[in-house]
Amino acid sequence: IDTKERFILQQISITENPNKKDKPNDNALQFGKTFTDHMFIMDYDKEIGWHDARVVPYQPLAMDPASMVFHYGQTVFEGLKAYRTDRGDVQLFRPTENIARLNRSNARMCIPEIDADTALKGIQTLVDIDRDWVPHLEGTSLYIRPFVIATEAYLGVAPASKYAFMVILSPVGAYYDAGINPVKIAVENEYIRAVKGGTGEAKTAGNYAGSMAAQEKVAALGYAQVLWLDGHEKKYIEEVGSMNIFFKINGKVITPHLSGSILPGVTRKSVIQLLNDWGIAVEERPIALTEVLEASRKGELEEAFGAGTAAVISPIGELFADGESYIINNHKTGDLSKRVYETLTGIQYGRIEDPHQWIVRV
Ligand code: COI
Repeated sequence: IDTKERFILQQISITENPNKKDKPNDNALQFGKTFTDHMFIMDYDKEIGWHDARVVPYQPLAMDPASMVFHYGQTVFEGLKAYRTDRGDVQLFRPTENIARLNRSNARMCIPEIDADTALKGIQTLVDIDRDWVPHLEGTSLYIRPFVIATEAYLGVAPASKYAFMVILSPVGAYYDAGINPVKIAVENEYIRAVKGGTGEAKTAGNYAGSMAAQEKVAALGYAQVLWLDGHEKKYIEEVGSMNIFFKINGKVITPHLSGSILPGVTRKSVIQLLNDWGIAVEERPIALTEVLEASRKGELEEAFGAGTAAVISPIGELFADGESYIINNHKTGDLSKRVYETLTGIQYGRIEDPHQWIVRV
């Protein structure tokens, strides 16, 4: 895009909400149930590109029932957080990573690219206007949900010619009731989350819609999350629930490599970087379920945890596979999981130094 278009795009108009809502109590925050006073919107038309970037009062949308997103699921989303520091500052964690991934998801779903500077400016402007909504309590944050939907009214199966990019904000507490306490997970042998060449690498609604049947199945058996296996051989470990997964086996840290069906997590990438900083190499490679079970039988499976923006680090205390329960680290949070959690959240909340310039102030 040329300088002029960039200039226009960066003009974000602001309409303040005259009816501000009462804010929830920091102690009572759940995940993604309440929303702030404002939202960001920008429209796309094939003829004019992205235009009309604006912050407006949070409100319901009036949409044509034929809007393509309702029928063929042409949509992508992101998730990141704004954190309040002890000094009262508000800051974002690696937002440019989320924006870059948003555009990779866009490319996969035939949605037009969004100017990265405009997206960041939109997020910053919105968080700034709603900064009083960033909660203060330890472990709480303001969850930021950017997303794109196809808005053209048309029932043909083809990329839409009209889209809306929106950002909404939600003050959140811990994602899981368990917090950083270990959860029980179960291997899924019937359903699969994604296959190479599919959409598993993109953050698109269908991946999540398709995961729910498996999630319901294991939840009914008392497990918190599904352990997903690859779609070709059902042999290799891919993800846990909606998170990336790490194992510590015999002193070594391993995580599934980004094979094409795995979501490239920002937390995943940050965990690998932190471990490297500490001189701990992380092997990114195919990990067979049998390898992990074998390690557990030999007493070498020291830790396992999920990593994602919502929960940060979610230790795994028990793995159910092939009719057997494998207990990990006595259902306790391992030292490495704890250190990663403390360091990541320390950087996010501005309590410790940010050696990689991951923080962007609002
Ligand atoms: C994550 O942050 O780990 C997620 O995948 C978020 C979820 C609410 C979609």
